[in-house]
Amino acid sequence: MAFELRIWFAVSIISLALQSLVHGKPQVPCYFIFGDSLVDNGNNNALQTIAKVNYLPYGIDFPEGPTGRFCNGRNLADIIGQLLGFDKFIEPFATARGSDILMGVNYGSGGAGIRDETGQQLGARISMNKQLQNYRTTISHIATLLGSKKAAAKYLNKCLFSVGMGSNDYINNYLLPQIYPSSSLYTPDQYATVLIQQYSQQLRTLYKYGARKVAIFGLGLIGCTPGEIGSHRTNGSACVDMINNDVKLFNDQFKCLVDDLNKDLPDAQFIFINVTQISSGDPSVIGITVTNAPCCTVSPTTGLCVANQVPCNNRSTFEFWDAFHPTEIANVLVGSRAYNAQTPLDAYPFDIRRLAQL
Ligand SMILES: *[C@@H]1O[C@H](CO)[C@@H](O)[C@H](O)[C@H]1NC(C)=O
Ligand SMILES: *[C@@H]1O[C@H](CO)[C@@H](O)[C@H](O)[C@H]1NC(C)=O
Ligand SMILES: *[C@@H]1O[C@H](CO)[C@@H](O)[C@H](O)[C@H]1NC(C)=O
Repeated sequence: MAFELRIWFAVSIISLALQSLVHGKPQVPCYFIFGDSLVDNGNNNALQTIAKVNYLPYGIDFPEGPTGRFCNGRNLADIIGQLLGFDKFIEPFATARGSDILMGVNYGSGGAGIRDETGQQLGARISMNKQLQNYRTTISHIATLLGSKKAAAKYLNKCLFSVGMGSNDYINNYLLPQIYPSSSLYTPDQYATVLIQQYSQQLRTLYKYGARKVAIFGLGLIGCTPGEIGSHRTNGSACVDMINNDVKLFNDQFKCLVDDLNKDLPDAQFIFINVTQISSGDPSVIGITVTNAPCCTVSPTTGLCVANQVPCNNRSTFEFWDAFHPTEIANVLVGSRAYNAQTPLDAYPFDIRRLAQL
């Protein structure tokens, strides 16, 4: 099993490397990205917020250096974009101009959540509702470029959309009872349900504005991040099990959500990427040996890397770059299996590669 995974991974890495050499046509004409810091590629740079990272050592392994990506190198959206065959990274909404938007736009924003108030203690952020508004702005520009609203809608039907929201609704909301009332208003089960209900509305809005091929990323094991391990009791466990249990209540509702959306919305295909499943295997098979400590020197208050400190030099052996965000190698693992599922549990009902081909 471990051996097979290693072979599979080696093959993925090789094909990933090849993708960047072959300047063929991408598998979809456009890729639109909604989410939080796992995909933000610079949208927070000009905002008044603690949650921005356009300084070294962020970007130390990225060709353009620090860009606002919460990683040493490529983030999850970058990896998916490359696997889809794009030879350029999708531009952030904050700076995308002209006909670039026909290739897609990245709306991701660090600290953002499904709920509007999520992340407010960090400062400005672009919530999922605000990201949908920004997307509408893009649509009107696309309609101008293509000559009509109808042409824009037809074009958007062919694009791939990815959405990854919810981590901050836990980390920067429910798990901060001193700042947010959500944990006294809702039991973990109730909170998971209200989040899913609101998310469902947002995904239906996305459909209303032309999205037909949508990949939804579930949440990872938030209770295993160095940030949460450092601020909660683990009670002898390797992770904060209480947090993982709460988040599981949210993740467990996606199969139903995807089934409902696919049943209710004509011509749409929503899929679910099971990030928990993908990241719960033994990471040492791909050379990751440090799973409980960040690679960079982190600020104890924010969990982000302190500016201009030298990070660990063997970055591909670390799962975490800072206290909350994965390293590029960990993003490659999740991205490759989201694109090309290794087991039926990785993606439901199928993977991004098949979604792109529809
Ligand atoms: C710690 O684990 C023990 C054994 O599983 C359990 O009985 C106890 O309630 C746990 N304590 C906390 C604070 O989670
Ligand atoms: C996601 O993976 C977890 C852990 O492997 C599993 O328990 C769960 O059923 C999976 N969810 C879906 C929708 O496949
Ligand atoms: C990573 O490198 C550091 C210093 O170069 C070393 O102390 C550490 O043991 C290495 N870790 C692994 C997992 O190889």
